[in-house]
Amino acid sequence: MKVKVIGAGSIGNHLSNAARQLGWSVDLCDVDAAALERTRTQIYPGRYAAWDEGIRLFTAADAPTGGYDLICVGTPPDSHIALGLAALAEKPRAVLIEKPLCTPDLTGAQQLHDLSRDLEIAVFTGYDHVVGKAAAQVSAILTKGTLGAIATIDVEFREHWGGIFKAHPWLNGPQDSYLGYSERGGGASGEHSHAANLWQHFAHACGGGKIAEVSATLDFVRDGTLDYDRLCLANITTQSGLTGRIVQDVVTQPPRKWARIQGDNGFAEWRCGFKPGCDAVVHQVGDADPSTSLIEKTRPQDFVRELQHVEHALASERLPADIGVERGLDTMLVIAALHLSHRERRSVRIDYTKGYTLDALKTL
Ligand SMILES: NC(=O)c1ccc[n+]([C@@H]2O[C@H](COP(=O)([O-])OP(=O)(O)OC[C@H]3O[C@@H](n4cnc5c(N)ncnc54)[C@H](O)[C@@H]3O)[C@@H](O)[C@H]2O)c1
Repeated sequence: MKVKVIGAGSIGNHLSNAARQLGWSVDLCDVDAAALERTRTQIYPGRYAAWDEGIRLFTAADAPTGGYDLICVGTPPDSHIALGLAALAEKPRAVLIEKPLCTPDLTGAQQLHDLSRDLEIAVFTGYDHVVGKAAAQVSAILTKGTLGAIATIDVEFREHWGGIFKAHPWLNGPQDSYLGYSERGGGASGEHSHAANLWQHFAHACGGGKIAEVSATLDFVRDGTLDYDRLCLANITTQSGLTGRIVQDVVTQPPRKWARIQGDNGFAEWRCGFKPGCDAVVHQVGDADPSTSLIEKTRPQDFVRELQHVEHALASERLPADIGVERGLDTMLVIAALHLSHRERRSVRIDYTKGYTLDALKTL
């Protein structure tokens, strides 16, 4: 596979490294020459032991176009749609766009969907947790049906973003990037939207359908130019009436990345970072004692698995839905609905027949 990675920041390094682990060729580009230098001398050797001379670095203006199997967009969310459309125009076999797929005003979301469909080029989103081993184990439990009728799903991504800034020592704080601006795809609603995506994933796995109604409370920090939600709390109902809760925040420490599916005959819990270097699935059926399955892995391995998933998807006749563009856009509709619900202090219904635009949202 021949890959172009756009954006030489935190995720651009992870995706470049993962592609190299798979023996793929990588061209990595960035608008900022300092980011390329930082990648070569600091981020990549700091994370993966040594710089890989096989990776070709380009400033965005000089980057080659055309001839790639996969183009990865790993830039701030407010540039995803424009770069995604440009990537599709290069006619690769697939495009992988980082989460969140766009900004909460959904600008360009439908256009991206339509161009991907018209050109018959698969677009994937970077919600890597849903293709991780722990999520696969939970989905397998749900598919077996041993938990009985599912009563509720609860997903939390609660993590103080100190960790993010540790991984970005060149940023002084949220004001220096999209992170401090919910409208640009930052804040807890955008940055930790893995939770909304994982909720959808497990709801589909147990036949609960799409999220149909949300009621949300966000807690905003508005200070100088900063404008971001630090807490995003949502009650959710699906098309089939399954109810549950999504919590995303950038204040909790130590972090808690957790999902629980409760049935009338047992439960399954997805635990990210259960121990250092280890995820876990805790599971109980009937009167049996709970069992804990440990899944050893590192963060760089998550992205290897994600790219393997993309490779397998391209090789198969039917593209799996889990990190497909529609699931990523469904997550964006939910994020947009959370913002509207908070603003209007009302519940919001999502009408998927209206497409990926704000017209799909109706306050109740
Ligand atoms: N899947 C995950 O778990 C995961 C992890 C980290 C980040 N992300 C996502 O990846 C995206 C980027 O996050 P990050 O932490 O890597 O940010 P970052 O700030 O570390 O890096 C972004 C890079 O993109 C570059 N850039 C901006 N516009 C560009 C353009 N038009 N062309 C080329 N380069 C451009 C910037 O100069 C910067 O170097 C965000 O959407 C974030 O949510 C996802």
